[in-house]
Amino acid sequence: MTDPARWPLGVTGLAYGGDYNPDQWPDDVQIEDVALMQEAGVNLVSVAIFSWARIEPAPGVLDWQWLDDTMDRLHDAGVKVALATATASPPPWLVHAHPEILPVAQDGTVLGPGSRQHYRIASPVWRQHVLRLTRLVAERYATHPALALWHVDNELGCHVPHDYSDDAAAGFRRWLKSRYGGIDALNTAWGTSFWSQRYSTFDEVLPPRSAPTSLNPAQQLDFARYSSDAWLEHYRAIRDVLRDVTPHVPATTNFMVTTRNKWMDYVAWAEDMDVVANDHYLIGDDPEAHVELAFSADLTRGVAGGKPWILMEHSSSAVNWQPHNRAKRPGEMLRNSFQHVAHGADAVMFFQWRASASGAEKYHSALVPHAGTDSRVWRRTVELGSALRSVAELRGSRVRSRVALVFSYPAWWGAELDSHPSVDISYPGTLLAHYRALWRRNVTVDVVPPGADLTGYDLVVVPTLYLLTADEAANVAGAAEHGATVLVTYFSGIVDEHDRVHLGGYPGAFRDLLGVRTEEFWPLLPGEVHTLDDGTRADLWSEDLHLEPGTVAMRTFSDGDLAGVPALTRRTVPGVAGSPDGSAWYLATRPDAEGLQRLTDLLLAEAGIEPDVVTPAGVEVVRRHDGATTWLVAVNHTSTDATLRAAGHELLTGTDVTGRWTVPAGAVRVLREG
Ligand code: GAL
Repeated sequence: MTDPARWPLGVTGLAYGGDYNPDQWPDDVQIEDVALMQEAGVNLVSVAIFSWARIEPAPGVLDWQWLDDTMDRLHDAGVKVALATATASPPPWLVHAHPEILPVAQDGTVLGPGSRQHYRIASPVWRQHVLRLTRLVAERYATHPALALWHVDNELGCHVPHDYSDDAAAGFRRWLKSRYGGIDALNTAWGTSFWSQRYSTFDEVLPPRSAPTSLNPAQQLDFARYSSDAWLEHYRAIRDVLRDVTPHVPATTNFMVTTRNKWMDYVAWAEDMDVVANDHYLIGDDPEAHVELAFSADLTRGVAGGKPWILMEHSSSAVNWQPHNRAKRPGEMLRNSFQHVAHGADAVMFFQWRASASGAEKYHSALVPHAGTDSRVWRRTVELGSALRSVAELRGSRVRSRVALVFSYPAWWGAELDSHPSVDISYPGTLLAHYRALWRRNVTVDVVPPGADLTGYDLVVVPTLYLLTADEAANVAGAAEHGATVLVTYFSGIVDEHDRVHLGGYPGAFRDLLGVRTEEFWPLLPGEVHTLDDGTRADLWSEDLHLEPGTVAMRTFSDGDLAGVPALTRRTVPGVAGSPDGSAWYLATRPDAEGLQRLTDLLLAEAGIEPDVVTPAGVEVVRRHDGATTWLVAVNHTSTDATLRAAGHELLTGTDVTGRWTVPAGAVRVLREG
């Protein structure tokens, strides 16, 4: 269930709305805004995200009138507010008085104002001003009836995940002292015997600033951890002020679990959020962008520990920040929105309500476009509001899955460090390839961290988990010991959390589980493709792999330097504590899409997994559960009507379905089963 105490207060059903920037518009437009919000069925808007310079135009001079009016007007219209702390863009007067709050890039460049997020969280001056403004905003609106949720800053760490300033250096040293206790432990963890890097005191340690050549990888990883922790600590400091003033109001900030930011470890952040919120934008030039959307939504649900979450931003049509910003096709915005709902979102919010007339984002779509209400986009806005109202009963229901796809931010950081066997490994690309093969079979997937409880899953897929702790490795092995089919792929289990290689042969931490031992990586050159004995074409990676007794080669290379060497292996893993036997598969190369599909089908068959509903290609159906009540949320991404086998009451058309359920071409449908 959605925890009512952690959900935007007073918002019933699913939330619908977006970022609202009334401070960009004259009064008559603001008055029209709320009338249009009512017409569209908007019930939640995020206000004042970038409004510091308007609220406090000069030091200590406060102008609340416009925001009071906005809050009152929204309340009168029945629209609730996710009120921001207004701290996402420091006002010019603050930067002028305190240039020392500006962040510093790796090469020493000071990042200037004139854009947004030009602040360093390690600056005590910045912190003091942020907490001051947060308290002022919180006290001003503590009892306002429109206040439903606190929206802390905005996409923390999005533009400047890593600050290399002297303030950050001091923060990094404090963080390292508390992690390692003494400098000897740091020297051991970082392997500083290499290249004369041994430190005698913490005072000598710096962030990994630009250097002549490759930086110490463990230092880079710890700086990434420190930075993610520092941003989280910044969130907590703001959240604590909000809690102090308004203990009854939930707080969150908007994550970007896949889009544009790999540097925040949202798995570690999630429990500090009263409700997890995510922003997602389609990759415009990806013909299957909706598959990446589904992956992102499943990852958000995984980060949220399975609880319902808020889609805080997506776009009604084009964005403005990709090389080519294509408009959404007919039905696409509705399908995108319902995909997020299918995968567990209880809110569909957008950037932004009304398209800006000036500024860097003026070509970004919105719910009210430049063209006004006589437009396709506006008609879609109204249509979506109506559709979301008719499925309000989904609120609080959950998604269940028998398949886990294991994902880890630190493993992503580690896999993409420099000086590796191949520059062509893409961690999200690898995850997505496996996800896509499961999506094509309409199998629901939980995307979860390696430390999650994996024992309830029948299939666990572990792509390129380069870096992991000993506990996480044991946890993955535990899934197989509890009867699961486990697939691990190339460049997994190679190093510990300090990027220290597990000696004795690869894939170190998974060697025993998989029953294989690799002497040497054999990455393939760009364009180099080899054939496996079932005809699969494979590229990117191979290894000089040997099998331990009991491990079976399922596929071998037919050609190339490693002809005859296994590319796919399987070992039966004895069950523990009364569990049935499981299996551990190792994939030591990158198969083409058909080959990966064949492998995925084999694994699904071994694990006995079938989709909840069998669908034609391109039709996605996810079941949401609430106690004994279940709903099927269907999204037809094709240009052909689909007929599925299901029965119940369809909420968008209000019709009963008795066995043959038609989901028209390009449409969405929601069936309460029974
Ligand atoms: C988000 C950001 C919004 C807006 C949007 C444009 O990352 O939070 O403020 O910039 O991108 O796509």
